Amino acid sequence: MSGHDTAAASGFLHVSPESKAPYADDVLARLHEDAAQVVARYPQKRSALLPLLHLVQSVDGYVSGRGVSFCADVLDLTEAEVSGVATFYTQYKRHPNGEYTVGVCTNTLCAIMGGDAIFDRVSEHLGIGHDETTDDGRITLERVECNAACDYAPVVMTNWEFFDNQTPESTVALVDDLRAGRTVTPTRGADSVCSFKQMSRVLAGFSDGRADEGVGAGPASLLGLRIAHDRGWVAPGDQRPDGSHAPEERDADAGTAGGASGAQDVPAASPDGSPAGAEDAGPTAAEESKGRTPGSTGGTGTTGSTGTAATDGKDESR
Ligand code: FES
Repeated sequence: MSGHDTAAASGFLHVSPESKAPYADDVLARLHEDAAQVVARYPQKRSALLPLLHLVQSVDGYVSGRGVSFCADVLDLTEAEVSGVATFYTQYKRHPNGEYTVGVCTNTLCAIMGGDAIFDRVSEHLGIGHDETTDDGRITLERVECNAACDYAPVVMTNWEFFDNQTPESTVALVDDLRAGRTVTPTRGADSVCSFKQMSRVLAGFSDGRADEGVGAGPASLLGLRIAHDRGWVAPGDQRPDGSHAPEERDADAGTAGGASGAQDVPAASPDGSPAGAEDAGPTAAEESKGRTPGSTGGTGTTGSTGTAATDGKDESR
């Protein structure tokens, strides 16, 4: 186990002396240049702390002691204030992170769909636990909370790119590919996975030009939208396909079959009492996803990562 594992718990607060070593002059000058751009986006400069912490991670690979000092200096905050924020959010690492953060969603839905089994299998395969890093510095394994991609459960994130509908086997193959330096393709979003440092720079607000890569919203996320289109359902006040407008507000009875208004727009039940649309709602999300190959070579997937029906076909989360 390398120095990467010296802090295994996410609540780890010790900062090694090395992490406080001053930045080289050229690195510091570049940091100040970038930080000025970030700070200029906000009416109050302290609001720039979150992206600046990502900027520090893009240079050091984690929130180093010198990075905390840098943020405090630039934003006129105390180091305690900066540290308090950096230790609150799990995206900020207080010890050296691997080149790829592999986060297995073990929140409720993903857990029961196999997330727990995936984490256990990958943890055993790599010989590391939560928030620990492999000896080669390539993989940091994490349990992560819901990624708002429940329609593709169980989900695995690699440097915040989606790998949907995973299995223990596909995730083991994914980490093996990453460790071997092979290109992996997220199911949605960008065409490839960049390094943790590169992703941190994107999160700091510096585009890498890849926001429009990858496939658009996929069938599981868009199923509800498709049903609405098929049936001519629109939101209150929106224009129907025939050019008329749906009422702005619905009566108290709306939403039930036979309601005074809105029944055409948002029927709640079919005449036989079954849920509206049950008879022809089309395939379920699981059925839509069935047949797609889980794993790092997906590409048939989607965007709409937030689980909402993106209407422009682009991933709103990126
Ligand atoms: S529970 Fe895993 S993405 Fe929502």
